[in-house]
Amino acid sequence: ARITYRSPDGTPTTLDVPEGNSVMRGAVVGGVEGIVGECGGGAMCATCHVYVDQGSPITLPAVSDIEDELLYTTACPRRENSRLSCQLPVTDAIDGLVVDVPERQV
Ligand code: FES
Repeated sequence: ARITYRSPDGTPTTLDVPEGNSVMRGAVVGGVEGIVGECGGGAMCATCHVYVDQGSPITLPAVSDIEDELLYTTACPRRENSRLSCQLPVTDAIDGLVVDVPERQV
């Protein structure tokens, strides 16, 4: 699925991320700066924080209790559209997703 990662200065990087990855893994493997993924996707570090583009019609999986808790520990302020990108599985259904990378993760 095509995923666009927008850096804090607005520069977009669009990657074709294979199914079976997470949005976090796609960024790390694809060299997107600003998504760290320190815990490897275990929902333990919150360094994969992203802001999901709100203009998008894509439906994402609901925020789990663990993700919700961790979203209170992000380096940049949590917003309504905050997600942990390791908790977003890449499928055809999220083709075209756009996420904004926060200024910092730690
Ligand atoms: Fe650690 Fe997402 S990679 S919480």
